Amino acid sequence: MDFTQFVQQAHALEDEIIALRRDFHRHPELGFQEHRTAGVVTTEMENLDLEVRTKIAETGVMALMVGERPGPTVLIRFDMDALPVQEETGAPYASIHDGVMHACGHDGHTAVGIAVAKLLHEHRANLPGKVKFVFQPAEEGLGGAERMVAEGVLENPKPDYSLSMHLWNDKPLGWIGITSGPAMAGAEKFKIEIRGEGGHGAAPHRAVDPVLAAAQITTTLQSIVSRNVDPRESAVVSVTQFQAGEAFNVIPSHATLHGTIRTFIPEVRELVLQRVEEVSRGVATAMGAAAQVEFTRLTPPVVNDRAIAAKLHTLVESMFPEATIDSNEITMGSEDMAFFMGGIPSSYLFIGSSNASRSLDAPHHNPRFDFDEGALPLASSIMAASVWSLLEAS
Ligand code: NI
Repeated sequence: MDFTQFVQQAHALEDEIIALRRDFHRHPELGFQEHRTAGVVTTEMENLDLEVRTKIAETGVMALMVGERPGPTVLIRFDMDALPVQEETGAPYASIHDGVMHACGHDGHTAVGIAVAKLLHEHRANLPGKVKFVFQPAEEGLGGAERMVAEGVLENPKPDYSLSMHLWNDKPLGWIGITSGPAMAGAEKFKIEIRGEGGHGAAPHRAVDPVLAAAQITTTLQSIVSRNVDPRESAVVSVTQFQAGEAFNVIPSHATLHGTIRTFIPEVRELVLQRVEEVSRGVATAMGAAAQVEFTRLTPPVVNDRAIAAKLHTLVESMFPEATIDSNEITMGSEDMAFFMGGIPSSYLFIGSSNASRSLDAPHHNPRFDFDEGALPLASSIMAASVWSLLEAS
């Protein structure tokens, strides 16, 4: 296979890919409500004669492309959901729904997914294996991937490889991140409930103040990363919500803290969870209060297979000699793509998409987020070629 064919094909499809993206952008839908988006995806997949399964995890779509030559199965996943953000881009294709916006680029991902299917479809007679296209709902913290897995997306056929991508406004168009090893952190959320003894604001000696205990816990939690985690490893502990009290002259009886933990490796994760629990209970006890800690696991880390990353690096370099290919991009952000990667050799690519000279460089989740649409055909050809190279290798 001459992979530059995909570059030319994607170039020819550019207007269509951009039109799809703008249509999705204009009609953003929140997690598990992507009915219109899934409808467009389903029609496009059926037009390519793919075997389509819909309504997986509410609005998810799976389409299987069976090549005419035998070979392995590659899963390729694209997320479809928007965010509860009021758009401020002023773009002609801006969201028509108040308070809902594609502020992360998933409109682009969905368009790229359709384009990849079209690119591969043209070579179906030579396609050496199967491609499982997964269009996922609710990536933004709502657990869409986990539900799709629970509903059988990793079965019949079981993928031999998994691939995904994210448009990446932290980096300019022409930059491509193919991280070797861990790329995105595993995430949990925590809730710490602190019970004291309520009383009069003027008589603190007769109360047990949960506000002060929660404040001490918040401060002491910051010692976990600086004093417990090996400095050569990475971790984040962020307290993001602090709730207590109703009146200025009443010491409340309860305080609640919420936050998130990010780690890459199981040993560090175990250590951080254990220390959050110990610090919370120990500090509360020292203050005469009591603390209860609850963890909810959100996603495992996204870890790229090093051999696949190296292979794709060489591939993308041959397709785009001018591109900057970075093997070291790591973010403490998380991605539920991890659920489609566990135990499966995988790779997750970052496709640089900002363009400062056109003011298309607002960060992800910002009301002014928008990207250079030149990233769409680029991403489409890279992902199509990546699928092919994994099928061909086996
Ligand atoms: Ni995103």
